[in-house]
Amino acid sequence: MKTAKLKCVIIVTYFLIASISAVKSSTEELTNVKRSDFPHEFLFGAATSAYQVEGAFHEDGKSLSNWDIFCHIDGNVIDGSNAEIADDHYHRFMEDIEIMESLGLTAYRFSISWSRVLPRGKLGVINQVAIDFYSKIIDNLVLRGIRPFVTLFHFEFPHELEERFGGWLSPLMQEEYVYFAEVCFRSFSDRVKHWLTFNEINLYAEFAYERAVFPPLRCSPPFGDCASGNSDVEPLVVAHNMLLAHGQAAKLYREKFKSKMDGVLGITVSAFMYVPLTDDENDKEAANRALAFNNGWTLDPLVFGEYPPEMRKIHGSELPRFSAEQSLLLSKSIDFIGINHYGTLYAKDCIHSGCICNDSSCTAGSDRAIRGYVYTAGERDGIPIGERTGMDRFYVVPRGMEDIVDYIKERYNNVPMFVTENGFSYPVEKDDSFQLHDVGRIQFHRSYLAHLAQAIRKGGDVRGYFVWSLMDNFEWSNGYGIKFGLYQIEHPTLKRIPKLSATWYTDFLNKSTIFDAPISCNDASRLQSQ
Ligand code: FCB
Repeated sequence: MKTAKLKCVIIVTYFLIASISAVKSSTEELTNVKRSDFPHEFLFGAATSAYQVEGAFHEDGKSLSNWDIFCHIDGNVIDGSNAEIADDHYHRFMEDIEIMESLGLTAYRFSISWSRVLPRGKLGVINQVAIDFYSKIIDNLVLRGIRPFVTLFHFEFPHELEERFGGWLSPLMQEEYVYFAEVCFRSFSDRVKHWLTFNEINLYAEFAYERAVFPPLRCSPPFGDCASGNSDVEPLVVAHNMLLAHGQAAKLYREKFKSKMDGVLGITVSAFMYVPLTDDENDKEAANRALAFNNGWTLDPLVFGEYPPEMRKIHGSELPRFSAEQSLLLSKSIDFIGINHYGTLYAKDCIHSGCICNDSSCTAGSDRAIRGYVYTAGERDGIPIGERTGMDRFYVVPRGMEDIVDYIKERYNNVPMFVTENGFSYPVEKDDSFQLHDVGRIQFHRSYLAHLAQAIRKGGDVRGYFVWSLMDNFEWSNGYGIKFGLYQIEHPTLKRIPKLSATWYTDFLNKSTIFDAPISCNDASRLQSQ
């Protein structure tokens, strides 16, 4: 009896010492984090998007989308793959929802396929089978206490709209989008409280119309050699149409649907952090400019009703203008900001000193072309800013999470925020050996979450965090080689296999509350045996 008690005291003391040193090191390195570092009502989820997981590309009335057409042209997707089947989530969504429940998620972010719901846009009929499909997903999430976060546009739309009037280059796309949004609000806003109108307008405009790695593959030199396009102007036009479409959809939502469950509506931005390449004041300015060009392009109009002053100054008359009425429509048109954050880049000024890259080398590899007279790169003197990952410009810099939240908090008066995407992929050559034993991914999430908790302690109003992604999926032009999932998808069986990170996430969500209650002898032995 005495020995048992002594053993218990030793175990408890061991865990108390271990925990205290964990706290100490968390203030030093910020890698230790637990669920209870976040507010009680904070949501923890995972994210996917329709095109990347659903498959069933031509089933039950779905039309071909811009991406279906794109993937079927040789050379567009690195590994020659497509998303005809993807993760077959369309047929296996129940299993996937059960996985979410077993992980202990309290939220799930997914998108609605436009080409499934409205195969011909406004012209055709509403595809009831598609409405039923998303209804079932939503019902089953709600039943399990998982909050649905629904994105309306995640890079995918009926190809017919591209053919008919040139997609987002045309203002006609605004009406099409608002109609699509209305159909979704009408069908689901009695059960969906969190809406995201667009995923990453900034990235989409750039990838599709400046660098041409997304459909409709438009660009001009020096950004690339496309059959047609204008890399200077078209991204601005496309983003303008999207912002106006957002404004109209937000107005409609607030007038007709918000009251159904006091819902909220936001948007996501692809939010890199930028730090100056050198201590030079001009590079510091350049980093600020990069932040404004990247995040402010979307967020300034939706909070303040105008494009960022930094952009207006540089683009001049190239930048479309909002009328007074449009400006009013857009300002304060989001209830929250969705931050998709993966990494941090260096920024170097190109106004005062000329740039280290010439036009063609700036567009190649991991370097970005000059926008806003800023050259951005992930390396300085050949040394990467953080660990390299599978994605060109995603370097692991956990501190960037805290900095980007601080930045958005300051610039937008602490509008509520959600981290709507954050995730890690191994460099392709390393992926096989680490596929299931993905300690790098666990380390990534722990350290980014630790910095997120720090940003919240400093007053940032962040209300949720979504891992990108629930499962490996079709990573756009990168095909299936780049993997972000907590779950592996085995081919060709499409079996879902949990990676170590899935176990870590479950433990983090369900067990990492050691400081909430006094530790008992039972707790200690249980933890020790793990
Ligand atoms: C984001 C996209 C998401 C996924 C991740 C890796 O930009 O929103 O669909 O591709 O990158």
